[in-house]
Amino acid sequence: MLTTIIYRSHISDEVPVKTLPAMVDQASLLNASHEVTGILLFNGTHFFQILEGPEAGVLTIYEKICADKRHHNVVELMRDYSPSRRFGNAGMELFDLREHDRSSVLQAVLDKGTSRYQLTYDDRGLQFLRTFVESREKENYFEVPPVEYWDFIADQTGADAWSSDHGVTFHPVIDPLGRQVTAIEAIASGDIAAAAEGVHKYQASLDAARQAFAQAGKACPDGMSLYVSVLPMTLVAIPDAVNTIVEAIHRAGLVPEQVIIGVSETEVISQLDAFSVAVRQLKEAGISLSIDNFGDGSAGLSMLTRIQPDRIRVAAGIIRDVHRSGPKQAVVQAIIKCCSALEITVIAAGIERPEEWMWLEAAGVINFQGRLFTRAGAAVAWPEYREAI
Ligand SMILES: Cc1cc2nc3c(=O)[nH]c(=O)nc-3n(C[C@H](O)[C@H](O)[C@H](O)COP(=O)(O)O)c2cc1C
Repeated sequence: MLTTIIYRSHISDEVPVKTLPAMVDQASLLNASHEVTGILLFNGTHFFQILEGPEAGVLTIYEKICADKRHHNVVELMRDYSPSRRFGNAGMELFDLREHDRSSVLQAVLDKGTSRYQLTYDDRGLQFLRTFVESREKENYFEVPPVEYWDFIADQTGADAWSSDHGVTFHPVIDPLGRQVTAIEAIASGDIAAAAEGVHKYQASLDAARQAFAQAGKACPDGMSLYVSVLPMTLVAIPDAVNTIVEAIHRAGLVPEQVIIGVSETEVISQLDAFSVAVRQLKEAGISLSIDNFGDGSAGLSMLTRIQPDRIRVAAGIIRDVHRSGPKQAVVQAIIKCCSALEITVIAAGIERPEEWMWLEAAGVINFQGRLFTRAGAAVAWPEYREAI
């Protein structure tokens, strides 16, 4: 069985194009020693490469390629398995698209191919190649500057009020470029809900939410949106859960309109009808709804056809290394498009790397949460662009 990896990247500014043939000659030898074959397309700005061979060889070569400073913004478009090689003639061949006529360039590339059947039937690998040759999808190439261009400056404002108090921690949701805290999430520490079983689990979840409201009433600046999460079935399993939440909000000196109740999609919403009724009660009280860990659970897009929350938080697993993964980029873009059509605010949670944040900003996300924007003892670490490095 053969493994295929297809990626796209951007040539680095300081690399003269005339050095590429020598690089390819060297690469060809290494590929041959790993029984890896393929083709490298270049359009003057971007590379597109198909690597095929035994899995270990392909992975070894791809790892070297990803670390190579002669290009950047390497995005893996496809990792798949096939019975035969699409481009089996050369260890690696460079094909400069600019040297060919527009009308015949695709055929010229395909003529290099070695797999009869995949050319005949719709093969994903060759579809990717066609899309690149025809310069389609270019509007979706969100390229991010190097990490060194950003500093993250700790801001102490408000840090004292947010420091963990009475078992509740506060985590800001921020608009990094607008330098604005757009909401604060209050989390009762200790995994109270996980510790309990059955209906007690839901009671514990509700108690944790009440505790979060009580402390947030003291810490939350006037008018700030406040996020508090509960297990989704809490709203169904505990009679009067919504009223209890509303009472806790008022008792803390908060108003329902500033509150967003977050429920995780990963907790199976087992009774969607009953859950919808509870959501209606929340809305009647003026409270907003967020579906958290969106994309990680079983309901996903089908749930959006039944219940439209005010916000969704995209699961950290989808966000992780989004700048390097074509499949993740496609899924995130679909979520953004869908939420835009439904006027649902998208929050990207669990951001750890500057590149994840920058890619998502370029894709249109405004609200973020995650370790990248927090520093010990500070409320927020804001990104600042360094002009010269
Ligand atoms: C766009 C691009 C494509 C490359 N393709 C290959 C390749 O197919 N095979 C390969 O061995 N090296 C390729 N390289 C070069 C590798 O990144 C690396 O320099 C080479 O494998 C030698 O690695 P080493 O010095 O760690 O042994 C490519 C580099 C670039 C910028």
